[in-house]
Amino acid sequence: MATAAKWNRDSWRAKPIEQVPVYPDQSVLADAEAQLRNYPPLVFAGEARRLKAALSRVGNGEAFLLQGGDCAESFAEFHPDNIRDTFRVLLQMAVVLTFGASMPIVKVGRLAGQFAKPRSAPTETVDGVTLPSYRGDIINAMDFTEAARTPDPRRMVQAYNQSAATLNLLRAFSQGGYADLHKVHQWTLGFVKDEVQIEKYRRFADRIQETLAFMEACGLTGDTVSQLRETDFYTSHEALLLPYEEALTRIDSTSGQWYACSAHMIWIGERTRQLDGAHVEYFRGINNPIGMKVGPTTKPDDLLKLIDTLNPANEMGRLTLISRMGAEKLSEHLPVLIKTVQREGKNVVWVCDPMHANTVKSATGYKTRVFDRILAEVKAFFAVHQAEGSHAGGVHFELTGRDVTECVGGANAVTEATLGDRYHTHCDPRLNASQALELAFLVAEMLKDEHMRMLQRQKTQAAAVR
Ligand code: PEP
Ligand code: CO
Repeated sequence: MATAAKWNRDSWRAKPIEQVPVYPDQSVLADAEAQLRNYPPLVFAGEARRLKAALSRVGNGEAFLLQGGDCAESFAEFHPDNIRDTFRVLLQMAVVLTFGASMPIVKVGRLAGQFAKPRSAPTETVDGVTLPSYRGDIINAMDFTEAARTPDPRRMVQAYNQSAATLNLLRAFSQGGYADLHKVHQWTLGFVKDEVQIEKYRRFADRIQETLAFMEACGLTGDTVSQLRETDFYTSHEALLLPYEEALTRIDSTSGQWYACSAHMIWIGERTRQLDGAHVEYFRGINNPIGMKVGPTTKPDDLLKLIDTLNPANEMGRLTLISRMGAEKLSEHLPVLIKTVQREGKNVVWVCDPMHANTVKSATGYKTRVFDRILAEVKAFFAVHQAEGSHAGGVHFELTGRDVTECVGGANAVTEATLGDRYHTHCDPRLNASQALELAFLVAEMLKDEHMRMLQRQKTQAAAVR
């Protein structure tokens, strides 16, 4: 194989790029970049390596990834209660999955940096007026005025500051006592409106509490076992805005390697994964665990080339492929991609994003997603992996801990007529806390089945060796 061309954190600049904002004043851009280059890293390389190791266990079927959060974080919704609620619903989902399927859950938020959005068109026209599209708060503002829609590089600095404060709170929540398993009952207070989910969760929490009491009797407490007291929680986002990412790309002093220090994990979106493009160029040189969205039109040969470029050492945990196809298309297109990866012996983690191929417009004009379509895609994902003998490694959701009305359906049904009640998203529709928890219970069942089958397979293999 040809040796890869020399990489640097700015080598993406020589490549064709998609989805870039046009900044009117280059000197303001240069100032913002210079400022960010002198700011502290948001995450440490050692943390990213720890996540990579956790993801390699996911790839081997020994753990499961739960990734979720806002479609787009916003400056307007920046509030400790919002961060707490998203963290709390992820924690609850993780408990349901861990306990329901007896599997360690790797928790990764779409948080503390998930600001930049790819758009289907660079401009938007309303009543004959054409302005740049809204690309996320790190780039411009949503109001339909020329001033709001003009990309402003100083927003990168504000996004960095918001990410730093968010991460600080997340670290306190995960390490400072809030995530203590003994508090499993308290996490539910006040936000899930659906009685059935509340009752189900309560029963779960009771069983966990009983288990903890038993462990305590055996001498295992939060004081002796840190896993009962605190949890590992990681951050991730789509690394779309490369000037921001470049400024936060640093050499790790212990390994001498480059790391994206804007988040533990970053991913390449469906619209920017061109093999010769700027985003793939940037991603190939950093040593974090990375993700790539895989849509229904992905060709097996192209996928292999991307895998070779992004994970030349074929390291498990380095590359997570996040399929987002829609239930029918997934059943049609994912098997051949899995077969190709298996045939070539490539080590990847497979994850299901059941959100992005299931976006529709309601009769009332809202961008929405139907709960049953989301569930159908997750089911299809598990079924395909079962048929191919590969691991369903995780799920990737857009969700919030708030009681929003953005996705239709679920046990406590949000209907098309009620979408307008609390529709707050800055981009795509998110699951609310009740819908997210309901999905966690359903996914736990699927995961339990898959886990049982894997244990059975291992037993049969061990017996055959004996
Ligand atoms: C997203 O994750 O918000 C997103 C834009 O996804 P995709 O690139 O898969 O469309
Ligand atoms: Co989205």
